[in-house]
Amino acid sequence: MKGYAALILAAGKGTRMRSRLCKVLHTVAGRPMLAYVTDAVRSAGLSRIVVVVGHQADEVKRVLQEDEIDFVLQEPQLGTGHAVAAAHDVMEGFSGDVLILCGDVPLIEPATIDAFIRYHELHTSRLTVLTTCPQDPTGYGRIIRSEGGLIARIVEEKDARDEEKAVGEINTGIYLVDSNLLYDLLERITPNNAQREYYLTDIVREAAKESIPVQGYVLEDAAQMVGVNTRAELAYVSSRIWKTRREDLMRSGVTLLEPASVYIDRQVTVGEDTVVHPLVTLSGDTQIGRDCIIESVVTIRDSRIGNNVSILQGSRLDRVVVEDGASIGPMAHLRPETTIGRDARIGNFVEIKKTVVGDGTKAAHLTYLGDSVIGDNVNIGCGTITCNYDGKKKHPTFIGNQCFIGSDVQLVAPVEVGSGSIIGAGSTITRDVPPNSLAVSRTKQRNYPLRHGQEPKITDEDREP
Ligand code: UD1
Ligand code: MG
Repeated sequence: MKGYAALILAAGKGTRMRSRLCKVLHTVAGRPMLAYVTDAVRSAGLSRIVVVVGHQADEVKRVLQEDEIDFVLQEPQLGTGHAVAAAHDVMEGFSGDVLILCGDVPLIEPATIDAFIRYHELHTSRLTVLTTCPQDPTGYGRIIRSEGGLIARIVEEKDARDEEKAVGEINTGIYLVDSNLLYDLLERITPNNAQREYYLTDIVREAAKESIPVQGYVLEDAAQMVGVNTRAELAYVSSRIWKTRREDLMRSGVTLLEPASVYIDRQVTVGEDTVVHPLVTLSGDTQIGRDCIIESVVTIRDSRIGNNVSILQGSRLDRVVVEDGASIGPMAHLRPETTIGRDARIGNFVEIKKTVVGDGTKAAHLTYLGDSVIGDNVNIGCGTITCNYDGKKKHPTFIGNQCFIGSDVQLVAPVEVGSGSIIGAGSTITRDVPPNSLAVSRTKQRNYPLRHGQEPKITDEDREP
């Protein structure tokens, strides 16, 4: 194989998105649009990757965070031709062919890049354009072929006459071009068009003028080549990715009760025989084991869920780890840096943040646990609260193994409850509890007889707090 380098154009603002965020950073099924393009290029075996950045350049670089990517700044942004010209210095000394792509085609597959390169080589072409024929070509540049079938020029929608707009074959914005030829041709283009921009597409006309044959490789699957320019197209490409992911997972043994209502990002993995109910969102870097049940209206992000775990209705999990056999919810909220041990049970209306819950521990109802470390086989009674915040700082709570925390207990942090201890219901614990102790802190109960028509007799002593 010849030497290939990829040049990805990602400097534009994306005016049609009507957004303060530059277009290529908008997320498609949970991942920035541009990352799909760099992934596809790398999977196709190209290791030299140059990305042209402009709008929010630092942010784009930060998101890609890749050592092997070279970045070039295009400032100001005067069109796609100008963007490629901006990379001239970085490409200096590279004598192979350049694969040019736009950062706004996230559905592109590595196999398509492969096939495109093979076609280019087969025709010993110096300039090849990847084209397709979508159902609706509106908005794209149209491919104008000469009588011999080669590409004569590309005309942008805004510059097209009616008979040109009637052409169904469009420019996908993906090209393979001999690097020396590319920079020769770029010198000749001018911003003499409706948008006053340097159009990269004009290199085709310039090549044709020199009788350099311009090949067109037509891709059957037009849906892969959707260029995202609007929010509607953004929604469309996300839905395609979710659909593909669902189909892959079902093929690999995952049950989706109502597939169309489930959103699973591309990098999420789900094990065999896990059952996913309707209206579930699994996003980011999430791994779910086998034999799990994920009930409806559950959201899980950047989390690792073991095998045989039940996540019951209405729960939300964000950056957590849940070990095998645990049960979460319904309506539980697990916040970042939380680990739930094996066979633990977290019930309804329980919120847990930055806390390690030991194996077999139960917090079955109405509880807040924050900044805590809780041992194994602990029972956290209904209404327990770790009072972790004093208005200025957060403080930790430690609970040893085999403790029994009664209902409606407040643990005022920092505080430690030693292993094997019991806290009486309704206690406010402000001091450490040694191991194997019973701690109770509440007023003594008195019962007063009620006689019809008489006030109960409460002594002054009884009124003391
Ligand atoms: C472009 C093509 C069009 C093609 C379509 C395919 C041109 C003139 N037109 O149009 O023929 O059908 O893509 O999707 O090339 N960019 C820069 N710097 C700039 C301008 C743009 O880096 O100065 C980047 C953008 O960030 C984007 C890409 O180039 O990733 C394409 O720009 P966009 O404005 O989306 O071009 P289209 O109008 O879609
Ligand atoms: Mg575009």
